[in-house]
Amino acid sequence: MNTTSPLDCPAWKKLEAHAATWRAARLFDQQAGDPARSQRMVAAAPGMQFDYSRQRAGALTLRLLAQLASERGFEEWRAALFAGQAINTTEDRAVTHTSLRATEAMSSPMLGLAEKIRNERRFRRIVNLGTGGSDLGPRLVADAFGDGALDVRFVANVDAVELDRALAGAVPETTLIVVVSKTFSTQETISNATAARRLGYGNFIAVTSNTKAAEQFGAGEVLPMPESVGGRYSVWSAAGLSAACAIGTDAFREFLAGAREIDGHFLDSPLEDNVPALMALLGVWNVNLLGIEAHAVLPYAHRLRLLPAYLQQLEMESNGKGVDRAGRVVDYATCPVVFGVEGTPAQHSFMQLLHQGPRPPAADIIDASVNETLSANAIAQADALAYGTGDQELPSYRRQPGNRPSSILKFRHFTAQDLGRLIALYEHKVFTQGVLWNINSFDQWGVELGKQLANRILKGVA
Ligand code: F6P
Repeated sequence: MNTTSPLDCPAWKKLEAHAATWRAARLFDQQAGDPARSQRMVAAAPGMQFDYSRQRAGALTLRLLAQLASERGFEEWRAALFAGQAINTTEDRAVTHTSLRATEAMSSPMLGLAEKIRNERRFRRIVNLGTGGSDLGPRLVADAFGDGALDVRFVANVDAVELDRALAGAVPETTLIVVVSKTFSTQETISNATAARRLGYGNFIAVTSNTKAAEQFGAGEVLPMPESVGGRYSVWSAAGLSAACAIGTDAFREFLAGAREIDGHFLDSPLEDNVPALMALLGVWNVNLLGIEAHAVLPYAHRLRLLPAYLQQLEMESNGKGVDRAGRVVDYATCPVVFGVEGTPAQHSFMQLLHQGPRPPAADIIDASVNETLSANAIAQADALAYGTGDQELPSYRRQPGNRPSSILKFRHFTAQDLGRLIALYEHKVFTQGVLWNINSFDQWGVELGKQLANRILKGVA
């Protein structure tokens, strides 16, 4: 499989030459000269449309990006992902998160347990102790679609304030503590679990790959998590237990089904219609060829308020790498800084910089079509970013320069199934970018030194 540098690809050199035209071009003029652009530059995936007509790109850009994908060996890498090959080479592991949603077999023990917990009504409150991937995915799903049948809370921080708040008013006999940790050695999670036990809580379920450590801790039940599923890809696994308890098992099944549909779309669609691949290619175009160093995620739906936090880990822990698959230090940009807040609150916070700042990020605007006002605001932001103010009579401080690229992901509805689709979409975008940048998206060695130093500082040996 191709592990050369992307800079050695003939398409990369062509893209560099081609980028000069787009640095000078203006989206306002492109759209005025070719109004059909906004119909043509749209791709469909199950439940949604991806409108990329406000990207600073044209037909030739897309052809060259497709050529780049082919030269990078995209199809071969994609086949290796779905075949469960050991593509996480630095940890010598397969990457199997897609198999978690391929059939019900993988999720049925966890879903059976969630069903039992919801039906028995022995527990009133569930407190999920976990951090990173053992927190962000389940927290997002529970926050988006929790039906209130159970009081499900999440604790990620080692700061005791978060645990105290999650346990305030709880009764140990009717509280279930779900400890989610792939390694079962993460400082935050284990110290919170130990603190909960010290406070008199005794009902523990653990979700982990390290079943021995969880048994030693004294968890009443241990659900295994596959070694081959990274934390940030684990919401589909037993790590989703608290989320399944929050939203119900039918909704969780829909969530899995949505992701499965996107797996099919990613595998079978030609590149020009393949939404995750297009998102990845346009992302590389923006970062590497147009020099845009940050990427905003703006979900227009309160249910998706935690999506930016989720994507920060998914994108930056996966692709925030400086060494390629062959161990060479890269001499090109990789993952941009990813950030975001739900729209419309973002508009009253940081959007000023996106509209007028000299080094603005690109943006994904997620129109979850929840209501007309939200949709109108989503489209208005995308148009203002792209086309700016035409009126040259305005004083300079009131002008908006435009030419700031964004894409709109427009959903028909927004259900648990759509959330599954959306997350899987970004997983495959991230995977494709890893292929384009020649990096391993599935390890996270860069976070180790800080953990070791914190432990040494705590022990007073630093
Ligand atoms: O420190 C980073 C990290 O390893 C993430 O990759 C992971 O999601 C998180 O910590 C939690 O890890 P664990 O599930 O092993 O507690």
